[in-house]
Amino acid sequence: MIIAIDGPAASGKSTVARLLAQRVGVPLLNTGAMYRAVGLACMDAGLELEDGEACAELVRGLDLALQPDGTVVVDGEVVAVAREEAGAAASRVAVHPGVRTRLVELQQAFGARYGCVAEGRDTTTVVFPDGDLLVFLAASPAVRAARRAEQEGHPERAEAYALELAERDARDASRAVAPLRPAPGALHLDSDTATPEQLVERIVAALEEVTP
Ligand code: DC
Repeated sequence: MIIAIDGPAASGKSTVARLLAQRVGVPLLNTGAMYRAVGLACMDAGLELEDGEACAELVRGLDLALQPDGTVVVDGEVVAVAREEAGAAASRVAVHPGVRTRLVELQQAFGARYGCVAEGRDTTTVVFPDGDLLVFLAASPAVRAARRAEQEGHPERAEAYALELAERDARDASRAVAPLRPAPGALHLDSDTATPEQLVERIVAALEEVTP
């Protein structure tokens, strides 16, 4: 069973994907964690992160594995992917087609082996376009900004976040590599007015229709 979830930043897809994976009993495939591990590996190797060829070559030779429990292991060591600099490095290496090609291969192998709830940009359009169910989770910039401001303990920053998110959406939707867009046939959900638990119930109901 493969379910893929995409959607804009801070739309709640990580929370929904985690709850859904527990609910249906398959591993969570957090593709962002893999980009983060690769970003760190390129940084640790002293590479220029804008050098697509060098980053792609390093990734092709990297012993990178995602475990079913969600930990990312590189050359036998668990990588601390939550670190701040991992996110920044990930967004720089994620633009290189050679990096993406290798990670997409690993993600598809993971899905074929274990089944999964895959979360992240391009999981519905590129990695698992033939998944059992594809979900596009949206939310308005205002709600996403309020959520992010709350999470980060700065409720007064909500307006500034809303502007940043609107800009990021425009950039993500228009970028050449893996742009943000709903996959054909995806189930569209909106997290503005539904809790993560309610969204999981809707996804499970849709799943029952496609996999009787
Ligand atoms: O979701 P996240 O913050 O862990 O993602 C880290 C970076 O990797 C972010 O810049 C988006 C990028 N990414 C990507 O390009 N494709 C994916 N499937 C997942 C993440």
